[in-house]
Amino acid sequence: MTEFNLATLPDYLHQRHEKIRIFEPEVPLRIEEIGDGNLNTVYRVSDVAHPERSLVLKHAPPYIKILGPDYPLSTERLTYESRALEIYNQLVSGTVPAQYDFDAAMSVIAMEDLREASVLRDDLIAGKVDPSIAEQVGRFMGIVHSQTYVDNAPKATAQHYSQQFANTTMQSITADYVFTFPFTEHETNFCTSGLEPDVRQLKADADFLQQAAHLKHIFLTTQQGVTHGDLHTGSVLVQNNTAKVIDAEFAFYGPVGFDIGLYWANYLLSFFSHQDTSHVQSALKIAIVQTWQTYTAEFKLVDSDLKAQTLQNIFHDAIGFAGLEMLRRLVGAAHVKDIEGIVNLPWKLSVEKAALQFGTTLVKQHQSLRDIASVIEML
Ligand SMILES: Nc1ncnc2c1ncn2[C@@H]1O[C@H](COP(=O)(O)OP(=O)(O)OP(=O)(O)O)[C@@H](O)[C@H]1O
Ligand SMILES: [Mg+2]
Repeated sequence: MTEFNLATLPDYLHQRHEKIRIFEPEVPLRIEEIGDGNLNTVYRVSDVAHPERSLVLKHAPPYIKILGPDYPLSTERLTYESRALEIYNQLVSGTVPAQYDFDAAMSVIAMEDLREASVLRDDLIAGKVDPSIAEQVGRFMGIVHSQTYVDNAPKATAQHYSQQFANTTMQSITADYVFTFPFTEHETNFCTSGLEPDVRQLKADADFLQQAAHLKHIFLTTQQGVTHGDLHTGSVLVQNNTAKVIDAEFAFYGPVGFDIGLYWANYLLSFFSHQDTSHVQSALKIAIVQTWQTYTAEFKLVDSDLKAQTLQNIFHDAIGFAGLEMLRRLVGAAHVKDIEGIVNLPWKLSVEKAALQFGTTLVKQHQSLRDIASVIEML
């Protein structure tokens, strides 16, 4: 079997029964496509008679799903996602869906179905900001980053991680779409009508471009720890007040501040989108601070004398990455629902102008901002 789609899935599940082991053999199954992503297909399979028995299948076709077979992309991305799930489950069990099976030949992961979950981004759009979720994600990052951190792991272990997560294909996609294309003339860029003067100014700002190039260099060359690589608010599911991290196909051995930066940037974009709701904005600010407090509390270094300096460096990287992530979501190829969903166009433009200004400041000042409180004060 080479094709993997709704038609071939029943056969696939039958063949793979011994590995997956969630359903009794031969029971009638209901299969639906649930994924809303760009790269892969995601299905929910449930037992018709016992719908509480279910699982999720994620399949990576050898191309970018929404663009089709003319846009090839290695299916290896799912091998990295599977490896990341395994390590996350070992280090911080319960913060990711359980993995039932990984089929490298067909590039399919079978995993726990988080049936009742909502996507964190949708919660934030609805104004539901639970500080405990930010703490849980801070804890997740703090443990994974420090346990795989280059200075902590014996040399052989660090080398092992760096080989296991040499995800260069996906890393170079990020390099293009986060660090390069948004700040050059590129066909995939778009922005709200009226934002063009701000974008032109950004692309001509030598200081900004220099800082962006510096951050790109850090992104491509720093090897610190296992980095999720795509930890925005669409990669966190929330079920019963518990955060579950998904979609680790970009996982790589890199600068760990990238995860914090992406996570913060998406809270900040949500912050600007809620300019008319001050209690939501206050909760978002608290969540941003809590993320860092929990992160730093969980980040353990064998040589504790190095901790303060290490965290200061991670913080600076994170702030720079956060700025670039905010900007690329305003002027690059992939925007966020939090802002795209604003129907009042003058209002949307004013939100975007403010967010663009803020993102630019973060990039330009990422090396001089001292702590997260100073960032929050600028809001
Ligand atoms: N274990 C799960 N339980 C329940 N729903 C899930 C699970 N995994 C994924 N989903 C749903 O499928 C969607 C897409 O999943 P995911 O982000 O992993 O796919 P993707 O194709 O890699 O997306 P993207 O293009 O954003 O990278 C999620 O937003 C979520 O709604
Ligand atoms: Mg993905």
